[in-house]
Amino acid sequence: MDKLDNYRLSLGQHQYVPIMIGGMGVNISTAELALEACRLGGIGHISDAMLPFVSDKKFHTHFTKTKSEKYRASRDTFDKTNVKFALEDLHQAQLKFVESAMEQKKGDGGIFINVMEKLNMAAPGETLRTRLTASLDAGIDGITLSAGLHNSSLKLIADHPRFNDAKIGIIVSSSRALKIFLRSGKRVNRLPDFVVVEGPLAGGHLGFGEDWNEYNLKDIVIDVLDFLKKEQLDIPVIPAGGIFTGTDAAEFMQLGSGAVQLATRFTVTQECGLPTKAKQVYFNAEEKDIFVSTLSPTGYPLRVLQQSPCINSNVKPQCEPLGYILNKDGNCQYLDAYEATAVDEKGRKLAVKDKICLCYHFSKYNTYTCGHYTYRLKDTTNKLASGEYQVLSAEHIFNDYLYSTDHKIDVPQPEDELESPAEFIKSA
Ligand SMILES: Cc1cc2nc3c(=O)[nH]c(=O)nc-3n(C[C@H](O)[C@H](O)[C@H](O)COP(=O)(O)O)c2cc1C
Repeated sequence: MDKLDNYRLSLGQHQYVPIMIGGMGVNISTAELALEACRLGGIGHISDAMLPFVSDKKFHTHFTKTKSEKYRASRDTFDKTNVKFALEDLHQAQLKFVESAMEQKKGDGGIFINVMEKLNMAAPGETLRTRLTASLDAGIDGITLSAGLHNSSLKLIADHPRFNDAKIGIIVSSSRALKIFLRSGKRVNRLPDFVVVEGPLAGGHLGFGEDWNEYNLKDIVIDVLDFLKKEQLDIPVIPAGGIFTGTDAAEFMQLGSGAVQLATRFTVTQECGLPTKAKQVYFNAEEKDIFVSTLSPTGYPLRVLQQSPCINSNVKPQCEPLGYILNKDGNCQYLDAYEATAVDEKGRKLAVKDKICLCYHFSKYNTYTCGHYTYRLKDTTNKLASGEYQVLSAEHIFNDYLYSTDHKIDVPQPEDELESPAEFIKSA
């Protein structure tokens, strides 16, 4: 019977176990999760979302406080045109975070970084160049360009000494988007090393419009494979979005995929950055709780759980400390929505209905973004005597994907039935 372990992903000279754990911002796909994928021979992603903020939490740096104090004057206005990131600080934060992950690397796999174009950071080109350059400087194995067409991204780093040595790929949701990227690559003589094809059941932001429901991953993958074949381009295609069992994965390999990219099942692992409480909300989710929202000020649809604490919040825009979604003119859709929201009789803002302050709520893990099949997570583990679901190890899920057949899911031994080390020694 076919299983995922029958396949390997070749990127240049390197062979990987064909599992990529997708990037999940903000620091949901932690370095610890990426390092596990790497140790097991696959590819793990760290995310480059809000790294100055993440670095402050992880390494006790002060990038966010410094920025917030510098722009104190604009806190009570809606004019954020002056609020900018210090590029040197951004470079430092990115370098520190990526270097720290790379220093801990073990095993034959790879550590890649997911870099989102839609994080405009008030100066799209400059901040993107800084983030890409710092990642390469820090020795990242690969870059996965996401959340955008990345028409100019390759050009931004074309003169970097590691431009041809690091693996660079892109996430697309159609062959049309891939064609645009290939055209931009031609200008700097660089083909992508891999293409992630993300379908409409994925977590995070979706590369579709309101009609996302009319698409399916398999059809898009077949279309991209056909297109690459016609163009005689040998670029591994990596499907993502709704691949829930090892058998789902093996079926995509039979079509001619190079690997699979997975995320949702890893949200409930010890290594995942979500708070413990949020992991239990993910486990408890029912299908009716999961919806594709228009809440994101990026303009992309965002799949979330209706239990997300960010929904109907009235938090003041946090552009001075954060401001990752501000465009080059100092605008963000949340700023407009907040400004347009009325106040109650005591002068307090009512709940902002249409948008969320993505920066604030992602920084607090208040936005429970998730893949469509999150409601199946409860079937992958044990309900413990405490009433909580057992959080899994990344290794367990990784191996379940690799070795399972017939859509079976390997549920681990319940942890409350495991002997404690002391009892084990006594009984031995
Ligand atoms: C919690 C969560 C956060 C995500 N965040 C990002 C992100 O920041 N950038 C990105 O490109 N994709 C993001 N994704 C998409 C994943 O990287 C991945 O491609 C997709 O979810 C795979 O489908 P699956 O979750 O059904 O396995 C996220 C997914 C989840 C579940």
